[in-house]
Amino acid sequence: MLTFLDRIASRLVDNHFSTSCVKTTSRIYKLFHPWVKFMKVLVVGNGGREHALAWKISQSKRVSHVYVAPGNAGTNRDAINVPIEATDQKALLEFAQQNNIELTVVGPEAPLVDGLVDTFEAAGLKVFGPSKAAAELEGSKVFCKNLLHTANIPTATYQSFRSAEDASRYIKERYPEPNDPAPVVVKADGLAAGKGVIVCETRSDALDAIDRIASRKEFGTAGNELIIEEKLVGLEASVLAITDGETIVTLPAAQDHKPAYDGDLGPNTGGMGAYCPTPIVTPEMLERIEAEVLVPIVHAMKRARKPFKGVLYAGLMLTSSGPKVLEFNVRFGDPECQPLLMRLQTDLVDILEAAANGTLSQLNELQWDDRPSICVVMASEGYPNAYEKGRAITGIEAADALEDVKVFHAGTRIEDGNVVNDGGRVLGVTALGDSISNAKRQAYKAVKEIRWRGGWCRKDISDKALEN
Ligand code: AMP
Ligand code: GLY
Repeated sequence: MLTFLDRIASRLVDNHFSTSCVKTTSRIYKLFHPWVKFMKVLVVGNGGREHALAWKISQSKRVSHVYVAPGNAGTNRDAINVPIEATDQKALLEFAQQNNIELTVVGPEAPLVDGLVDTFEAAGLKVFGPSKAAAELEGSKVFCKNLLHTANIPTATYQSFRSAEDASRYIKERYPEPNDPAPVVVKADGLAAGKGVIVCETRSDALDAIDRIASRKEFGTAGNELIIEEKLVGLEASVLAITDGETIVTLPAAQDHKPAYDGDLGPNTGGMGAYCPTPIVTPEMLERIEAEVLVPIVHAMKRARKPFKGVLYAGLMLTSSGPKVLEFNVRFGDPECQPLLMRLQTDLVDILEAAANGTLSQLNELQWDDRPSICVVMASEGYPNAYEKGRAITGIEAADALEDVKVFHAGTRIEDGNVVNDGGRVLGVTALGDSISNAKRQAYKAVKEIRWRGGWCRKDISDKALEN
């Protein structure tokens, strides 16, 4: 009987009955069957992370409809795309109100830093993600570093500057000879799509980085302030945790591959692939990261009157003197989200809702597939520099049909009935395997099925796990 009602109710929506008719049907349905959920969820964003979120949320027993705004060619298969940009707060709010959205999940950082969560909460809507004030942890590297310093959380030593002159003077004083090695990292304060971080080896690299960020304003107003910090040496890992501001649920550690080319060569990208769990973060190290980084940052945010709820993403360098924070992000990592969610067995909606409601302490321990997973990013020719869009992609279905494989779309759209590339990072080919090397083998088998002119990927995703 319930299944029958379920079917009628979703048929009504699928047939695009008027919104008010659907709303009434849904209300009557809920009234008579309060134990059956009929939940509609909105995911905001259009990348691989949002495809993975929509795919996992659509598997929830409690969810009838998943919308993605604006989404991509892949999200429109696993969910329903809504043509609203992630930055259009007014239109997103109207859509959520008119369509009885019960939970909104914000994927990317920009709308979080712009206060989308505050807008939804002010209208009484449930939303997963941090407030504008809390999102400053990612929106301002100066704020983040100052807070890390105050809270005594291990991080690289640093100085912040408001002018190119002051920053250049600092470098010249510290490294007096023009040919002096200068192992520093120069970072634009604000959001710069992962590109505002320049790792330097020499004094001239550092002066050039300052010029690009603070004088030539290559990253716009993100470069109004900048940070110069000590260059750390070690292995990098991403540790993500879900928190409601009181309870912290740490997720298995993942490892991203930010440089464009094999062997970690070439320019930095948004991330060319990831795998999870990473053996470089042992259970003891994960406990240490929780105690030395995650717990203190959640407390520090509370003390700063910016209580944090949502996903806390700690980008870490595991140095010889312990884990140190490179950065905090205030959302799921992309591509880390894809292999993480591939392994998650607990209903994701239960987790996200508990974080939004402040009831994470009541949630049972999360269940994970024991098998590791890896995600290989396929990119457009020329990425991370300029690239051409609109090239037809073949083989996605054949790749998806392979066992334990899911192809998450990132920069794709439909043109004349074909999936075409529409961004730099185009697909996240993700696979499970009974070992990291088998997961890798399966992911690359799937990659081989997919073709488009100029499409490429790194060939060594997860090799660092096998080396260490
Ligand atoms: P971020 O966006 O701050 O995580 O920086 C992007 C990438 O730059 C990181 O993933 C690291 O590979 C590198 N990086 C950032 N800060 C440092 C640092 N202090 N030492 C060495 N590498 C760094
Ligand atoms: N994978 C890096 C990031 O999401 O920022």
